[in-house]
Amino acid sequence: MKFGYFDDANREYVITTPKTPLPWINYLGCNDFFSLVSNTCGGYSFYKDAKLLRLTRYRYNNVPADNNGKYYYIKDGDTVWNIGWQPSKTVLDSYECRHGMGYSRFTSAKNGVKAENLAFVPMNDTCEINRVILTNESDTKKELSLFSYVEWCLWNADDDSRNFQRNFSTGEVEVIDSTIYHKTEYRERRNHYAVFSVNSPIDGFDTQRESFLGAYRDNSNPEAVENGKCTDSVAHGWSPVAVHQINVTLEPGESKSFIFVLGYCENPVDDKWESKNVIKKTPSDKLLAKYKTDDDVDKAFKELKDYWTGLLSIFTLESNNDKVNRMVNIWNQYQCMVTFNMSRSASYYESGIGRGMGFRDSNQDLLGFVHLIPERARERIIDIASTQFRNGSAYHQYQPLTKRGNSDIGSGFNDDPLWLIAGVSAYVRETGDISILKENVPYDNDMSVATTLMEHLKRSFDFTVNNKGPHGLPLIGRADWNDCLNLNCFSEHPGESFQCFGPSEGPVAESVFIAGMFVKYGEEYAQLAELLGDDAEAKRARKEVKIMYDAVLKDGWDGDWFVRAYDAYSNKIGSKECEEGKIFIESNGFCSLAGIGVKEGLAKKALDSVKEHLDCEYGVMILQPAYTVYHLELGEITSYPPGYKENAGIFCHNNPWVSIAETVIGRGDRAFEIYKKTCPAYTEEISEIHKTEPYVYCQMVAGADAYIPGEGKNSWLTGTAAWTFCNISQYILGVYPTHKGLRVDPCVPHGFGDFKITRKFRGATYTINVKNPSDVEKGVKAMTVDGKKVSGNVIPYEEGKKEYAVEIVMG
Ligand code: BGC
Ligand code: NOJ
Repeated sequence: MKFGYFDDANREYVITTPKTPLPWINYLGCNDFFSLVSNTCGGYSFYKDAKLLRLTRYRYNNVPADNNGKYYYIKDGDTVWNIGWQPSKTVLDSYECRHGMGYSRFTSAKNGVKAENLAFVPMNDTCEINRVILTNESDTKKELSLFSYVEWCLWNADDDSRNFQRNFSTGEVEVIDSTIYHKTEYRERRNHYAVFSVNSPIDGFDTQRESFLGAYRDNSNPEAVENGKCTDSVAHGWSPVAVHQINVTLEPGESKSFIFVLGYCENPVDDKWESKNVIKKTPSDKLLAKYKTDDDVDKAFKELKDYWTGLLSIFTLESNNDKVNRMVNIWNQYQCMVTFNMSRSASYYESGIGRGMGFRDSNQDLLGFVHLIPERARERIIDIASTQFRNGSAYHQYQPLTKRGNSDIGSGFNDDPLWLIAGVSAYVRETGDISILKENVPYDNDMSVATTLMEHLKRSFDFTVNNKGPHGLPLIGRADWNDCLNLNCFSEHPGESFQCFGPSEGPVAESVFIAGMFVKYGEEYAQLAELLGDDAEAKRARKEVKIMYDAVLKDGWDGDWFVRAYDAYSNKIGSKECEEGKIFIESNGFCSLAGIGVKEGLAKKALDSVKEHLDCEYGVMILQPAYTVYHLELGEITSYPPGYKENAGIFCHNNPWVSIAETVIGRGDRAFEIYKKTCPAYTEEISEIHKTEPYVYCQMVAGADAYIPGEGKNSWLTGTAAWTFCNISQYILGVYPTHKGLRVDPCVPHGFGDFKITRKFRGATYTINVKNPSDVEKGVKAMTVDGKKVSGNVIPYEEGKKEYAVEIVMG
């Protein structure tokens, strides 16, 4: 069952009922100012950091769901309704929400009044624009009142949600004409404030929440709206809000537009007052002056649209498969941008106050983003590497505003260092910019010990070399990619963090998954060394990789699949010997995609075992059989009921690893079958089961053991976005950036047909026509570039050349 449809021409998903199984959200903002917005106008805004600089308040896990947003109430006689249905939930005559690239447009109607709200964050300003247009579609005159409503967050969202003894006494605002200024804590250590303004005269305002809502009432029926009259309250402490009241008369057929701007403004620390306790308005005057007219809004909106048209022209696909076209050309890349911007900080599952930027996560996010804006990827790489420790290990997370490592979590996740190689390699392959390798980058933000980025990579690489266990496999530390496989934790008391409790430096527990990573990224590291002319280092790296490869074949192979790990007693995990958790996806996917056991025929065997044991209708599960009891020696993974999360859920993130591994051994049918299982454009049909947004990936889909298999959770902020984009674009469609140029080596399912890819790469445009006359899964029989036959399948890169017309014949 569907709750909307894709409008590919407009790059939108159109939601046709407010009653979606879960809130279906979108992200506004590309640079520093961001908003989350749901299909019923829920959500919140922040500047740079969802924890430290949150502008508006949102209540996570609230009842009713998705409470608080930017709401517009329309009072028409005795009827009060909202453009996005919530919070009044008045039944609407029509409703539509279009989530597009960086904007959402709501259109609804009630009793002959049509209302539209176009919400977006302009490209270069720190504000969100809501343009509300009211139209009288009836044949009688309408006397309406329009009320806006946002609730301010007192900046630090964490403190805001718990420190009431202080916060109920700090709130402060100013109101001048149609602008409400939120200035809590401005009198002391802040030099920033927020504004909420409208481009028309107002007939009333409120800034004290309870004055607007009425005591013991909620925002579904504010007293002021019911009375048709704001109280002009000025907040002192308690909970400051911003409400405008505008009385609107509309003749039949008449429309009026109102431009609301919610903005973040900063003053110089030593020049922040206009007069005693009156904030200096220069930055907000400047900001608000830019968005006064419909033309201003149209222009800013066009800029945003053009920005996305530009970005999405970098990789485009024309194939016979509409669903794949739609994901590749629009939604998968869009989600890659969002995960790049947010890492794991703010979604409807990540509260914005917990995990900031993940070292592992952000490096992986780069893989699907780097082609879009390489300069931002470069900056991000430097930020991430700057939090690395001198011994090559890394803070697991850092805060976006401060860019400092998070000491609460610390380090000890032994896969982290290798992901830096993955990110840097992707950047250099995309851009050819080896200057980044020579950048001077600090350790733990300490510039006095800075070295080149290449030296950082060396320390990443050597961290694994220097931290091996009894089988010569990498020590796992607190966890590897699977945060919940905590083999050195042994936690017995509720509330202890599985990741932070226990000795992280256990000398025994080993990860076969990290071994797979080491083989893959060790080779990529060697290639980077070669680019810098350091053949000796490349040779040394390959020697270490070979040692690891052999260790995996010796002690990481279980007969029919790869072992997952060895625990702190050196017992196997993910082996036939185990009662539960006999086979895991990560080691099988990653070792195979890294090429381990391909020539020995073991990769094929492992992937066949994955199909046999881990496949279910909705995807490939992370392990089987699910753990049914808590194991002290395994940690969080066994804390989840069977079928959920890391305990036999379908972790969408590592499904593409298996799909990529299938392309490595040339099985296009199977690679595509896996691709389809978790692909939003395909699961749209079962939205009532899947529940999360049908235009983006979610982190986890409940596995076969779950109460409701196929139910998705934790949408948007997941490495699935980047990995799936790599899978489909670089492996299935097969356009992979190498240091020498683009390689074309598709691995497609039978019947996929011919297709065309346009790829902008290092300043040139490549038009790549792939023909598959014999309907094979893999293999390039011939390639021509500009009509000339070229041997192999790497398009030779010529300095300065702007256009490449490439023909590929598979066979
Ligand atoms: C979650 C993981 C997450 C980890 C670290 C666990 O509870 O299941 O997905 O990565 O916490 O925050
Ligand atoms: C989510 C985390 O963000 C990611 O880093 C981790 O790899 C997966 N969970 C699996 O545990």
